[in-house]
Amino acid sequence: MGAGPAGLMLSHLLHLEGIESVVLESRSRAHVRERVRAGVLEQSVVELMQQTGVGERVSRQGIRMRGIDFRFDGEPHLVEFSAAGRYAMVWPQHELVEDLASARVAAGGEILYESAVTALESLDARPVIHYGGKKLGCDFVAGCDGFHGISRGAIPPSVLKEHDHVFPFGWLGVLAEAPPAWPDITWGCHPREFAMMSMRTPAMTRLYLQCAPDDDAANWSDERIWSELHARLDLPGGTKLNEGRIVQKGVAAMRSYVAEPMRHGRLFLAGDAAHIVPPTGAKGLNAAMADVRVLARALAAHYKRGDDGLIERYSETCLRRMWLVERFSTWLCTTVHRFPDTDAFTRRLQLAELQYMALTETGRRSFAENFTGLPVEA
Ligand code: FAD
Ligand code: PHB
Repeated sequence: MGAGPAGLMLSHLLHLEGIESVVLESRSRAHVRERVRAGVLEQSVVELMQQTGVGERVSRQGIRMRGIDFRFDGEPHLVEFSAAGRYAMVWPQHELVEDLASARVAAGGEILYESAVTALESLDARPVIHYGGKKLGCDFVAGCDGFHGISRGAIPPSVLKEHDHVFPFGWLGVLAEAPPAWPDITWGCHPREFAMMSMRTPAMTRLYLQCAPDDDAANWSDERIWSELHARLDLPGGTKLNEGRIVQKGVAAMRSYVAEPMRHGRLFLAGDAAHIVPPTGAKGLNAAMADVRVLARALAAHYKRGDDGLIERYSETCLRRMWLVERFSTWLCTTVHRFPDTDAFTRRLQLAELQYMALTETGRRSFAENFTGLPVEA
């Protein structure tokens, strides 16, 4: 269920194991292809794409990141991923979706767009999926239908445990036709609130501004956006952020959420359907990829060796890693943003956290390891 990154990568990995799948997606292919969302891939996701034949474009056109430029106390502090001997890559989510969707189509895979799943039945025996007035029988269901999908709701409330935390701010995300002014993704940890300059291509900048959680993008004129970005990101006497035509803007909420367990009978939840993180750590898409790697291996062991051990451990395996991802994303989100109503002591501690991370070897290595991706277990 779902032709986002999780559903498409799972279908691709299963195909390589000789396992047939059908992907059911509620929206049109054009809609899924054009959604502006995540932008950073962990090293192991890039390697997975390269090893499974969908990495040609990311290898050629992706922007390899050497680190993050944290700006606080009026100074730049580059935390390099070489501190952990690793890298991350800027490759927009819609391009990854395109890489996977084209590979599935080229291999004769079935992706049924505009086919919303409306109900799931018999998840303990032989599942039946209801979609668009039709039914599909299958061995297993992968709920890759995102945070607002319906698969999670098929787990009985007596079994499902939900952990939820909502942050008291949001991000205004902006896409602009302007070349990145600086070579590295740049974080302004500023008393006026947080801002980030990221990139999508050598000609397009992706920018974020901390804003109220219920803010409306219509409250942000182009002039206000650029003036706040300059105030939070530029350094005195340094190169100024490049301006350009704003082609898209929208407000995203900041939330951490985990559903446990991630399996119920023959239903597996993967990606945003099971867990979300605030976008600060760039982990949502990468966490979805980690889940489907584990799931593809578990299903391959079932079909090839009749071994269901990995299926039994699916939820535990994914959640162990996911809670570490939640820890990192929550810590980062708490450290770089300005919270409403905090006292001077808490703000001073935030600065100490930034200093520990950027100015000590242990801090830099820990950040680099987490940002470029923790290991994925089988
Ligand atoms: P999704 O991409 O949500 O895909 C789920 C798919 O299921 C969708 O195509 C949906 O249409 C489909 N679907 C839903 N219901 C049904 C149904 N009933 N039947 C069939 N299909 C259904 N992450 C980052 O790492 N960095 C970022 O900067 C970042 N920015 C984001 C900005 C926004 C506005 C949003 C919403 C998310 C952002 N994320 C970011 C998170 C990241 O995009 C997600 O973690 C990632 O898309 C998860 O992939 P997924 O395949 O699990 O879910
Ligand atoms: C992005 O480019 O969207 C992005 C980059 C780094 C982050 C979060 C988001 O930490």
